[in-house]
Amino acid sequence: MNYTIAPLSEHTGAEVRGIDLTEPINEVVQVQLNRAFVDSSVLVFRDQHLTPQQLLEAVSLFGEPFPQHNSRFALPECPLVHYISNQDFYPDGRRYIPGEGYHTDHSNAARPPKATVLHAVSLPDLGGDTQYADMRLAYDELPQETKRRLDGLKAIHVYQSRHSARKLMELSTESRSRVPDAVAHPIVRTHPESGRKAIYINPIRTEGIVGMPETDALTLLADLLEHVTQPQYQYRHQWRPGDLVMWDNRSLLHKANGDYDMGQLRYLYRIMLQGDVPV
Ligand code: SIN
Repeated sequence: MNYTIAPLSEHTGAEVRGIDLTEPINEVVQVQLNRAFVDSSVLVFRDQHLTPQQLLEAVSLFGEPFPQHNSRFALPECPLVHYISNQDFYPDGRRYIPGEGYHTDHSNAARPPKATVLHAVSLPDLGGDTQYADMRLAYDELPQETKRRLDGLKAIHVYQSRHSARKLMELSTESRSRVPDAVAHPIVRTHPESGRKAIYINPIRTEGIVGMPETDALTLLADLLEHVTQPQYQYRHQWRPGDLVMWDNRSLLHKANGDYDMGQLRYLYRIMLQGDVPV
């Protein structure tokens, strides 16, 4: 199999060319792709044109599908695959841009998804990039004193933090029955495959820190967010038609940008892969 993997920035992102994800992929290549995924945290497969069912089959190379929390976005013909669209609206009529504001996906699960995959179906001519922040590098460059302070701390994650600036779509009764009330995860987690440490916070879902007064917790979380979202830790993905992008939620924050002409459709398929309990 003739394919290439090339870095997209100094720390985050690798571009894969020459692989057709509808074709069988042998074990050696699977291992190489997974290694590139773990090292670069964002793997971009160019020139893919997959149906939802083909997408589901293709990503099973990397793991088991994770049932996403809000079934309202599930595709009826393939419910493990959801959609991202700029054509949904809150009940009050405002446009809903899924994924605006830095976050990591479904951290309110006991075993949050290790990866999220988006496959572009329709893109605006300009804008709508997905931005990533490398939480490993951000952790590495924390002062020793802050690392010591974070050691052993756990954050409380819920479906929708009351401190979040962004409001998520309401869950249906059926979806709510599948979502845990609250879980606690370490603020510094160790990647189960690379052994690297990364900061693990989520402004959309983090409600507080176990055993810490609320004002102190909110100050610490805000300081960490300011640190991790500095430009030197970011990679900004400019979408191209045919892109299939898989990112590592154990190592990154990410956000969507609603900075484009809303008269143009932005529509992507989305699937997540099951992860481990963060430690
Ligand atoms: C997401 O947060 O899962 C969506 C990101 C995007 O639409 O760019």
